[in-house]
Amino acid sequence: MADIFEVQPCDGFEASLIPPGDKSISHRVLLLGAIANGISHFEGVSSGFDVACTRRAVEALGATVSGATGPGETLVVQGVAESPRLTLGQVECGNSGTSMRLLAGLLVGQGVEAVLTGDESLSRRPMDRVVVPLTEMGASLSGEGEQHLAPLRLRSSKLHSGDLSVIPQVASAQVKGAILLAALGVDGVTKVVESTPTRPHTEELLPSFGCAVEVGVEGANNYVSLRGKQKLHAADLAVPVDPSQVAFMAVAAAICPGSVARFQNVYFGSGRGEVFEVLREIGARVDIREGAQPGVGDIEVAAGELLPVSLAGGRIASLIDELPILAVAMACADGVSEVRQATELRVKESDRISSIVRMMQSFGVPVREFDDGFQIDGRGGRRLIGGGTIHANGDHRIAMSAAIAGLRADRGTTITGWAAVATSYVTFDHDLAQCR
Ligand code: S3P
Repeated sequence: MADIFEVQPCDGFEASLIPPGDKSISHRVLLLGAIANGISHFEGVSSGFDVACTRRAVEALGATVSGATGPGETLVVQGVAESPRLTLGQVECGNSGTSMRLLAGLLVGQGVEAVLTGDESLSRRPMDRVVVPLTEMGASLSGEGEQHLAPLRLRSSKLHSGDLSVIPQVASAQVKGAILLAALGVDGVTKVVESTPTRPHTEELLPSFGCAVEVGVEGANNYVSLRGKQKLHAADLAVPVDPSQVAFMAVAAAICPGSVARFQNVYFGSGRGEVFEVLREIGARVDIREGAQPGVGDIEVAAGELLPVSLAGGRIASLIDELPILAVAMACADGVSEVRQATELRVKESDRISSIVRMMQSFGVPVREFDDGFQIDGRGGRRLIGGGTIHANGDHRIAMSAAIAGLRADRGTTITGWAAVATSYVTFDHDLAQCR
């Protein structure tokens, strides 16, 4: 993928697109398949560089991975069951926070020693959110400084036995996932308590590998608990299309008058469909047809007269990856939109609040920055002002959001640092070319 990308305005399109398999599910099936007993088959695993980092890590652990990623392709994973390699040396997680955090949990649960490293962006992201609860569980791991920045050193240690309740300090599916994966190695029941629901992929996938989990409500909180030392078996699963990647082309259709985009086999279960609800509220036409598998179906999105929207509170956790592209929809709406209580955006692949603010300024859209969000005064029916250069700043979602905004600009726009897109969506250029 070239590092500079030029996007030209679009006059409306009709397209059928195949975005990649869900990234969150792809990481987790690889991790669980790797420590299961037997041979798993996973169809439609994401081909992005993030998931490739998790693949290399599980190969280092001793799992054998063959076959191919991508739509219609099958990846075959031969698990290590009870005999993972116990000393891994350096494991490079690239740009992938999900790889680093989930691996930290999985590896300490298996008593594995490793040093998890990341690129410049990942090395700035806080890892204390996993170090603190995993230490509470008896693990021995640390990073640099108070935030435990990468490299993250995992030392071989036995986790405490017995039952334990863990309350993560931030609402994060990566943290919950890390605790649950570590819990697989605990001699006892580990319960994770959450006040704000986060993506439930870890607890939803574990039963497919033979691990019983209990999910419930306790007062105002949700919890997930599991008994460790259960034997995992291999699984055959299809990974549905990632709604967070569909969101880019869905917003393209929503903001370019006369456009329609169609997607098949999209995951919209367990809160991941929230982005389509927001697009409806904004005024796009969204049709969802559920298929045989619950929470998976075909989605059609068409342009409409776009209205402002305000997002805050519990919705933010379900929309966290979609806020940059929703900001582009807000820029094309007629009125003032706002996102608040989204401080988490500051510790993503870039500081996404300031990245979004700079992107809006480059497109001539009035914007205000808050500590915990932003306000956008949309241009309504008028085109955005193109001609600028937007730096992706090591952030795939900022690069792709800027490209979609460029479709609705009055002239060409340049994006630098474009190669970051391969983190999650290697066929983005091809799909964007259908939006003309
Ligand atoms: C992910 C969870 C989200 C999301 C990330 C993937 C996951 O992060 O931003 O891209 O797979 O668990 P947090 O839940 O940590 O905010």
